Amino acid sequence: MSFIADKKREHEAAAEKALGNKDYAKSFFHTTKAAEFGFSLAEQSDGKVAQSYIEDANELLAIALKLKAKAAKQQPETTQKSITESSDSAEGGEKSQWELKNKPSEKLDDVAGLDDVKQELREKVIEPFLHPEIYERFKVNIGGGILMYGPPGNGKTFVAKAIAGELDAAFFNVNASQIKNKYVGETEKNLQRLFDEARKHPKSVLFLDEVDHLLGKRGNKKVGVVTQFLSLTDGLVKNTNCLLVLAATNKPWSLDEAVIRPGRLGTHIYVGPPDAIAREAIIAYNMRDVPMTKDLSFNEIAARSEAYSGADIAELCDRAKRFALARQLSHGNEESISMDDFIAAKEKVKPSVTQASLKEYESWRDAKSSSDKADENDDD
Ligand SMILES: Nc1ncnc2c1ncn2[C@@H]1O[C@H](COP(=O)(O)OP(=O)(O)OP(=O)(O)O)[C@@H](O)[C@H]1O
Ligand SMILES: [Mg+2]
Repeated sequence: MSFIADKKREHEAAAEKALGNKDYAKSFFHTTKAAEFGFSLAEQSDGKVAQSYIEDANELLAIALKLKAKAAKQQPETTQKSITESSDSAEGGEKSQWELKNKPSEKLDDVAGLDDVKQELREKVIEPFLHPEIYERFKVNIGGGILMYGPPGNGKTFVAKAIAGELDAAFFNVNASQIKNKYVGETEKNLQRLFDEARKHPKSVLFLDEVDHLLGKRGNKKVGVVTQFLSLTDGLVKNTNCLLVLAATNKPWSLDEAVIRPGRLGTHIYVGPPDAIAREAIIAYNMRDVPMTKDLSFNEIAARSEAYSGADIAELCDRAKRFALARQLSHGNEESISMDDFIAAKEKVKPSVTQASLKEYESWRDAKSSSDKADENDDD
């Protein structure tokens, strides 16, 4: 459920961004996708909440129709292609699609908790890009590769967006599925194009999201892609242009071992679930500028939502808002979100990450750090 709500939000954001760029075809595609996910949410809800999801999805469809008409006027031949093939296709030299033109509004301070993660990223990503001359003075390499890993919905993608929002560098935002291509050799070519594009800039960050889809353990199909990635990242830290590859995955154990060695995605950062303070901050972030009753206590909700991921918390807030919204829709009087709305929302939203799966990440981290130590000792 939280996955569906996330997907809906992602498509809405992408639609808005495309609209800002006057790319009506792309905006149409993402708006219809958002409507689709809206209808799925309605299917999984009941009563007035389901009704408000349906109304929202219908509204999105109405917007989509207008966008389609605008897109058709814009570029008759090419528009049709992007509508039917979807904007996720990486064919046809859509390199500009990978590079973020508009900075996201998120900043690292919007990411709740994760203090160690933010600190490490400040040191390894933000500072080198802001003050390359100081790193040069001390002959400390910049660039390289970082892998963020951890259970779903705890802010890996959000952190990457926030980094893009902070940096004055070209930022390439690529979901692995966007460069994957079913034709033999095409994925490798897409990877090459992507790195070529990124290297054209003196300073760039290449964010590869859900990288396990691309660089999984080498089976028959993946051998070429992994090998290509290894050769593209060879000498990453020594490259004259400052290229930093930031990758994210929720399945670190499925990545090819060679990909996560030093020199490639050699720095590993665990992005875990939020603690109570972070949960409170995520609630506050999601409840900005909305009407609330005086009894609503973020602190109490945070205390009562142990084991919830960041995305679960975001969905909890979304649900609570929708309960109040549905009330206002039904009788017309101004409503505010109350503690009862959160209690009702909590009945619907359950933690999406189990303790058992958290243990899997810890074991992977422990196994990794002992094998890293063994490697270091071998080098001595
Ligand atoms: N630490 C956090 N601070 C603020 N919001 C958060 C945080 N963690 C998660 N969220 C909220 O949850 C949503 C989902 O998080 P995000 O997509 O970054 O998770 P992820 O770790 O990339 O998950 P996946 O492994 O499924 O890709 C975010 O858009 C944000 O609303
Ligand atoms: Mg993600």
